[in-house]
Amino acid sequence: MNKTIIVSNRLPLQISIEQDKLNVSPSVGGLATGMKSVHAEGNGVWVGWSGITDEELDASLKKEVNAKIEKEKCKAVGLTEEDLNDYYLGFSNRTLWPLFHYFLEYSEFENTQWEAYKRVNQKFAEVVLETIEEGDTVWVHDYQLLLLPQLIKDVRPDVTIGFFLHIPFPSYEIFRTFPWREEILTGMLGADLIGFHTYDYERHFLSSVKRILRLDVNFNEITYHDRIVKVDSFPMGIDYNKFHEAALTHNNPDTNISELQKRLDAHLNEGDDKKFILSIDRLDYTKGIPNRLKAFEHFLNTYPQYKEKVRLIMLAVPSRSNVPQYQRLKRETDELVGRINGEFSTVSWTPIWYFYRSLPFENLIDLYTSSDVALITPVRDGMNLVAKEYVATRTNLDGVLILSEMAGAAKEMNEAILINPNSFEDFATALDKALTMPLEEQNNRMKILQKRLKRYDVEKWAKEFLSTLEDTNQLQEIVVSKKLNTIEENNIIEKFKKAKNKLVLLDYDGTLVGFKDNPQDAKPDAELFALLDAFQNQENTKLCLISGRDKATFEKWYNHKDYDLITDHGVWIREDKKWTPLEILKTEWMSNIKPILETFVDRTPGTFIEEKEYSLAWHYRTADPELAQIRTMELNTVLTSMVTNNELSVLQGNKVIEIKSSNVNKGRATSQLLMKDDYDFVLIMGDDWTDEYMFEVAPDYATTIKIGYVKTKAKYQIKDPNKVRELLKELV
Ligand code: ADP
Ligand code: G6P
Repeated sequence: MNKTIIVSNRLPLQISIEQDKLNVSPSVGGLATGMKSVHAEGNGVWVGWSGITDEELDASLKKEVNAKIEKEKCKAVGLTEEDLNDYYLGFSNRTLWPLFHYFLEYSEFENTQWEAYKRVNQKFAEVVLETIEEGDTVWVHDYQLLLLPQLIKDVRPDVTIGFFLHIPFPSYEIFRTFPWREEILTGMLGADLIGFHTYDYERHFLSSVKRILRLDVNFNEITYHDRIVKVDSFPMGIDYNKFHEAALTHNNPDTNISELQKRLDAHLNEGDDKKFILSIDRLDYTKGIPNRLKAFEHFLNTYPQYKEKVRLIMLAVPSRSNVPQYQRLKRETDELVGRINGEFSTVSWTPIWYFYRSLPFENLIDLYTSSDVALITPVRDGMNLVAKEYVATRTNLDGVLILSEMAGAAKEMNEAILINPNSFEDFATALDKALTMPLEEQNNRMKILQKRLKRYDVEKWAKEFLSTLEDTNQLQEIVVSKKLNTIEENNIIEKFKKAKNKLVLLDYDGTLVGFKDNPQDAKPDAELFALLDAFQNQENTKLCLISGRDKATFEKWYNHKDYDLITDHGVWIREDKKWTPLEILKTEWMSNIKPILETFVDRTPGTFIEEKEYSLAWHYRTADPELAQIRTMELNTVLTSMVTNNELSVLQGNKVIEIKSSNVNKGRATSQLLMKDDYDFVLIMGDDWTDEYMFEVAPDYATTIKIGYVKTKAKYQIKDPNKVRELLKELV
């Protein structure tokens, strides 16, 4: 049976050695807690790090660890101490984590750590590759493994790979500061589907792909080599029933009461106005803990009536404590809690109860169910599941969630009180509002929040991701359905060799040569000349290059050769080295259109006008892709409103808009050539939208080939100019 292989840095269980004995504990953090329920249900395997380094394990301990891990349907990737330092504490948590959370000043760019990151991603790839069986799907998670999708795809192109990022993807302006930005993006593009928590992260990612890799993006689909990579947002949910049921059991009078709950009850029973405000996070600088504490202080000063009544319970779970920023944060938090408690405490009241530890699930439920307000205020957070868990446990529909706008969860939790975590005013007003909110309003808000969380729970989230991932297979089939295979290629070669009278029509840019930033740099090279010469010297073969290029350029490049040429999209033809016009064209319109194009050049850096004899082309290959997209739409609107008499047409080429007379295109030129002789073999190759005119008029027996994997009227598709050259070499 096909299985799903989940891959993440951390396994859902963590192994450590305590007093020479193995200790197994559940992992904290949104990824592990969320995916755990998905994993528990399926027949999959989870590949990840056990929490223990190779150096800590001797052979027998290793066996024991593996047995424990395998029992949980997991498979371990061994990490050395060096790996742990440079890949996990280093590159993952001192470079990527701060950068992706907009803590640019914390980000370190160290080459040794980057090397370790590559090495460890390769280690993960090896374990995944040996686990994959025919038909399996691989689902890679999070920022520690950004290179893994491509490492797997390189070896197993047949395997469907999904990738989900659990943290924000930063804006292009941040991401572009990163020294290894291309490698990271191409690593991720090894996946067939890339998922984010929110549309904003998706948008940022696509923007970086367009600007840094300069790839074509069509809505949310990226054309990458011979594949389509889909990008989408899937806001992660929680195991709603688990939390809701746990809260129901907790509230049942027959259930045993924990020690913690007894302490909580003691405070609450002091009076109706005694309330708890709850805050739970890993101790991470992205969670905005010092800000929250200072804001709480500000609140107590602004609304002194709450003194001796409300209490902030702050649970900070130890995390990445070997990273200096986290150590500093720990000191700062300790100091702030001490100072505020010192300032406000009375003999019978301390404003903050602070726990720095991981608590068992039952105690989390005690805290969630006993707190009137949850104060979840990260300065930046991919999603934040704690906010969702709090809502799920409010079985009586009371309680108020105050949530930071900077958490991904805020996008789908509008009924929470949303605040800017940098504003103390917002904090104080929101806390006062929450503490005095009428029960009816609390109920109304909770009801809506719970409805959504229950419906779109973690299981639904995973199912949706996996079914979209499965659908990407069909996507490849639609767009790359005409990929030329070896059998077809051999057939073409055989037919070509047998034919008595052959016509070979080849587009130039994007077909015989790749694109250059400046069109004048895309000159024919020695290899190409040799290849074209070989065709020219073939018996019974008419070779013709057909291009949108102007006559002057081709004249310059091919002056010393006697190939036939068609230029300006079919205006001029050169046969036996003699130029004749195929069409008689007017040019008066050019003086009206050129000033318009000039205004677009002025407003769009990186663009320029190419003046040809019979057309004007506005090139935008090196412009900012997003600005260019807007400008092309504007220009199209302007031009189509001006060009009303059907004399001119506006062609959208590959990163170029060309305006030329309507009665000329490569299709008309092709038809004229075809009429001149009786061919029994016709080969037409082109990459561009304007080449579709040739494919349209080609006779049924012609071999038409599109370069690139996009929708086409041609019979076959091949990848790029290199492939074109390989095929042409085979023919001669
Ligand atoms: P992050 O992924 O950044 O850690 P989230 O809020 O998305 O933040 O996820 C935190 C997860 O860790 C939640 O599922 C929460 O229940 C769990 N968790 C938080 N605190 C504790 C704790 N003290 N003990 C056990 N699990 C915890
Ligand atoms: C966040 C990350 C996870 C990570 C978790 C705990 O949720 O997105 O990938 O596992 O924090 O961090 P840790 O460094 O302890 O794995």
